[in-house]
Amino acid sequence: MKKGALKKAFRLYRFIRPYRFSFFVGFVFLLLTGATAIAFPKFMGMMVDAVKGESGFTVNQVGLILALVIVLQSVFSFFRIYLFVSVAERGLAALRIEVFQHLIRLPKSYFDTQRVGELNSRISNDISLIQDTFTTSLAELIRQLIIIVGGIIALFTVSVRLTLFMLAIVPLVAVFAVIFGKALQRFSKLTQKKLAESNTILEESMHGITTVKAFTAELFQVNRYKAIMQDVVKYGLKGALYRGFFATFIIFCIFGAIIAVVWYAAILVQDGLITLGELFTFVMYTVFIGASIGGIAAIYAQIVKAVGATEEVLDVFEQTPEKIQVESGVESIKLMGNIQAQDVQFSYPSRKDVQVLKGIDFEIKQGQKLAIVGSSGSGKSTLASLVMGFYDFDGLIQIDGTSIQEIGLTPLRKNISIVPQETLLFGGSVRENILYGNPKASKEELIEATKTANAYDFIMDLPEGFDTLVGDRGMQLSGGQRQRIAIARAVIKDPSILILDEATSSLDSESEKEVQIALDQVMQGRTSLIIAHRFSTIKSVDKILVLEQGKVKEFGTHDQLIQNKTGVYSKLLKLQQLS
Ligand SMILES: Nc1ncnc2c1ncn2[C@@H]1O[C@H](COP(=O)(O)OP(=O)(O)OP(=O)(O)O)[C@@H](O)[C@H]1O
Ligand SMILES: [Mg+2]
Repeated sequence: MKKGALKKAFRLYRFIRPYRFSFFVGFVFLLLTGATAIAFPKFMGMMVDAVKGESGFTVNQVGLILALVIVLQSVFSFFRIYLFVSVAERGLAALRIEVFQHLIRLPKSYFDTQRVGELNSRISNDISLIQDTFTTSLAELIRQLIIIVGGIIALFTVSVRLTLFMLAIVPLVAVFAVIFGKALQRFSKLTQKKLAESNTILEESMHGITTVKAFTAELFQVNRYKAIMQDVVKYGLKGALYRGFFATFIIFCIFGAIIAVVWYAAILVQDGLITLGELFTFVMYTVFIGASIGGIAAIYAQIVKAVGATEEVLDVFEQTPEKIQVESGVESIKLMGNIQAQDVQFSYPSRKDVQVLKGIDFEIKQGQKLAIVGSSGSGKSTLASLVMGFYDFDGLIQIDGTSIQEIGLTPLRKNISIVPQETLLFGGSVRENILYGNPKASKEELIEATKTANAYDFIMDLPEGFDTLVGDRGMQLSGGQRQRIAIARAVIKDPSILILDEATSSLDSESEKEVQIALDQVMQGRTSLIIAHRFSTIKSVDKILVLEQGKVKEFGTHDQLIQNKTGVYSKLLKLQQLS
């Protein structure tokens, strides 16, 4: 276990702090359960001696004491568990919330480099692991330590000679058992890893079932799965070998050790050095101690794992979030929407060596429309995400004469609506998805927005209208329907700046025409950036920006650009008119 990691783990204390009183009381109960566990063998031995009248108590008296010990033990355990779990539940809920809160505020560049599945597992699995450790393993570790230390001390009071004899063999055997267990663990880890791989195949196949079927790749996927399963079996069998040895070892050595102790103790009883009750006590302690030493290894492994998980979770906190104001009640500024870009240069942080935008300049006045055209990969969507402030870049983008950094991310984004290239809806109803653009919108505004987006009619045709659930990621709607909901969501926000990234690309020409009419209406009075492949949609724009490999090839009005017969725009135009 790394020292730094442990130090980090202690930072979790912050989340437990508000409940430290409960935690402390729980801890006291934990100590008490340890104490009662140690008292138990003592009184059991006294019971045996009481039979012969050697302990000074009657059988009934010792029975009563034992009953009391057990009652106390049960009550203490209840409070220990209840208090620890309640502290952990509350503390870890706070941790979960804080991780999510932090994560959602991290810049887009962070998510470009992280796998969603991994982040997911951090919030769910890793924190669950920490939770188990806090509620069970830590307490168990302390309890076992109490039993080992307390048990050994108690043993010395019974018989120093016998204790020394016991200490010479039992811990030795227990330590061997631990080492053996470690090897066993390695195989179970390998098996786990292979199982995780097989799960990935399973998941991929289910998610991409359409692709699998379309390519009749069922057999291919099954074979991949089979190959990994073979490995699972291979490691499983090796593990079984170790497991078998382990069981043999445990039976032979642990029980052998206990037999040795009992044998030696019996000799001491014969010689009258200890009583039969003391022998009984002694054997019980020995079994307790042996079990605790064995148990501690597993608990230790669990704690090491939890410390690792803690490190992963806390790593999220080391990332610097965007300067956005998540809290509600942010003063809203209404921007007019004059946009000016000067020498904008940009590379994605995840691929620093590739310059995606190489010095972009353009200017567009409030209420004007700018079309951004260019071949796939030329940087159109990238430019749009820079205007939204998704990434840091070199150069300057100003709105109404103020740089977007100075405006601040929250006010900036409150003034911009984007209909992205790939529309993602959230699970929930159609209504919720549209109101996402403006939760305070009235019913009339909602209907107005859907009508503008040409979505009203199809929504009314849905089984439950606005209350229809769209399914996981909106999968129960067609691509075009999703896009129109996204347009309605953008409209209801009433932004000064509108960014349409291929907003009509997944519509049929009929709906496209209709949505185009709708969009023309939406764009009225708003500065609009329109990214489009099809030129039919950009005839009426004020300016056209032709991007090629991250550079501005041409910039001007339609009439200006067609003057240059050999220019990129004229060429693209000709190509499209031919088709
Ligand atoms: N998140 C990302 N991380 C790294 N590189 C990216 C990322 N997104 C896009 N790119 C790269 O940046 C370049 C420009 O991409 P962009 O999405 O801006 O193109 P585009 O003009 O919108 O293309 P299309 O018309 O196909 O949508 C491409 O070469 C692409 O591979
Ligand atoms: Mg794009």
